[in-house]
Amino acid sequence: MRHPIALPVPLGALPTPALLVDRDRLAANISAMALAARQAGVGLRPHFKTSKCLAIAQAQTAAGALGFTAATAAEVAALRDAGVSDVLWAHQPVGPAKVAFAVSIATRGGVTFALDSVEVARPLSAAAADAGVRVPYLIEVDSGLGRSGVAPQHVPALAGELAALPNLLLRGVFTHEGHLSRHIGDRSGLEKAGRGVGEAMTSVAEALHAAGFPCDVVSVGSTPGATSVPYVPGVTEARPGTYVFFDANQVALRSATLEQCALNVLARVITVRADGTAIIDAGTKALSSDPSMAGNGFGLAGDGLTVAAANEEHGFVSGPGTAGLRVGDLLRVVPNHACGTVNMWSGMYVVDGENAVEYWETVARH
Ligand SMILES: Cc1ncc(COP(=O)(O)O)c(C=O)c1O
Repeated sequence: MRHPIALPVPLGALPTPALLVDRDRLAANISAMALAARQAGVGLRPHFKTSKCLAIAQAQTAAGALGFTAATAAEVAALRDAGVSDVLWAHQPVGPAKVAFAVSIATRGGVTFALDSVEVARPLSAAAADAGVRVPYLIEVDSGLGRSGVAPQHVPALAGELAALPNLLLRGVFTHEGHLSRHIGDRSGLEKAGRGVGEAMTSVAEALHAAGFPCDVVSVGSTPGATSVPYVPGVTEARPGTYVFFDANQVALRSATLEQCALNVLARVITVRADGTAIIDAGTKALSSDPSMAGNGFGLAGDGLTVAAANEEHGFVSGPGTAGLRVGDLLRVVPNHACGTVNMWSGMYVVDGENAVEYWETVARH
């Protein structure tokens, strides 16, 4: 436990800045997404990179999550060490250290890997053959984001090349439809594009089956896409991450309302300048530098206020209510991107009403 004070305490007694998670909102977000996945008829595999918090992962599991998605080796290890027995490592294991980790964790079992090229697969296959272990994997599909992944039409050919390598076991396909956020301001366009992603993924699965390959898993994943992509028949699982907290960018994308945002950075006004500018004790090292999709600087500070600019430990508050701010005032900032913000912190205070009642550590940060 790295927090310095005995709990519970009123929020005003916390040292600032502090990362807060609202217990009721968190619980509501977890159960709403679990229900949505059940209604869509898909499994729910939340991305652990958002919370990096095992207490939250436990709550997601209790609500019915079938397993977790991870981005880093440290996240995979933290989840497996905590007893999570079904992890998708949705990131290519490239380089000797990651290949060695992949083979050792494959020996323990419970992890599915991500491949999108023969170049990635070859060293993994060779190391797995040396260790005498089979490596289950999904082919990553680029459904439009333009990041990792192979174009949908090239998946069967890649499956053929990978099938020629020893000790690899194809289970299906996955994509991260992060490009849906380009439809900001157009929720119906976003959902239409989301259904297009789901259809593209199920077509890939059909093409794999037609070519004689297994494809039991058709995995999609994003918070903006959660209301559309998993609902396409043939999709088997959804991997949203940000939904567990939501954030200012998800509000801008209309994935959530401000009232659903469960994560705040608690900050105090430390300076009010002669020109009326208020400065808080939370800057980029508290909020992260992740940009606002709505042009709101570094986060929403309530009552129309934004953190318009930031240095490392200073945030410059702007908006119509700034004149009313006084040194010592507390603000609860909704960050632009919850995942980036959490990664700045060793832990978060759990808020019940106006009190901090618990402290939950984060794990597996870089
Ligand atoms: C591979 C993968 N799956 C799922 C997600 C979750 O998406 P979101 O953060 O929109 O919930 C991400 C986010 O970056 C991702 O990279």
